[in-house]
Amino acid sequence: MAGMHDDIAKVLVSKEVLRTKVKELGERITADYEDAQDLVVVCILKGAVVFFADLIRNINRHVQLDFMSISSYGNSRSSSGVVQIRKDLDINISGKDVLIVEDIMDSGQTLAYLKEMLQARDPKSLRICALLDKPSRRVADIQPDYFGFVIPDEFVVGYGLDYAEKYRHLDYIGVLKSEVYAD
Ligand code: IMP
Ligand code: MG
Repeated sequence: MAGMHDDIAKVLVSKEVLRTKVKELGERITADYEDAQDLVVVCILKGAVVFFADLIRNINRHVQLDFMSISSYGNSRSSSGVVQIRKDLDINISGKDVLIVEDIMDSGQTLAYLKEMLQARDPKSLRICALLDKPSRRVADIQPDYFGFVIPDEFVVGYGLDYAEKYRHLDYIGVLKSEVYAD
C-alpha cells in the first residue's frame, strides 16, 4: 500500500522551519500579552489542532484554553463563508483578551464570520493568529494579527490541514499532487 507521503508533490514548510516559527510566534504573543489579565486561547477545530498544541507550549504565561468547532459549507477545497457552529466555546469571553488560533486564512470568510460573532460577546480584545496566510485569495476585508507564513495559491495539507479529512497528521506542510484531488 502506498504511504501518505507518496501523495505529496513537494514540502512547502519543513518540520524544522515550523518549529522555529511557532517558537517565535509564542515568544511574540507572550510579550504582547504581558499586561493582559485573562488570556483565552481558542483552537479552531480541527485544522488548528497541531499548530495550537505546539503554540501554547511556547506561550510563557497563564492562559485558559478553549475549543470551537465550526464547519463552513463549500466543497473540500474552498469555503463559502457560511459557517455553522458545531461546538461553541465553554468559557464566557466577556471582558477577556481572546486569541483565535486558526490553521489558514484563505478567502478570510470563515474568520470574518467568526470574528464578528465573538466580537458580539464583548471580549476586551480579539485577535487572530493564523499559521498560514494566502492573501492572493482574500475576499473578506480581514488580516491575521499574527501569521507564520505567507504562502502562494496552492492547496496545502499537513500539520493539521486536511484534504477530505486526510493528511492532518503529517509533521510538515506539503503540496498535494494534483492527481490526488477527486473534485
Ligand atoms: P477561508 O474561509 O476561505 O479563509 O477558509 C478557511 C478554511 O478553509 C481553513 O480553515 C481550512 O479548513 C480551509 N482551507 C483553505 N485553504 C486550504 C488549504 O490550502 N489546505 C487545506 N485547507 C484549506
Ligand atoms: Mg479544513
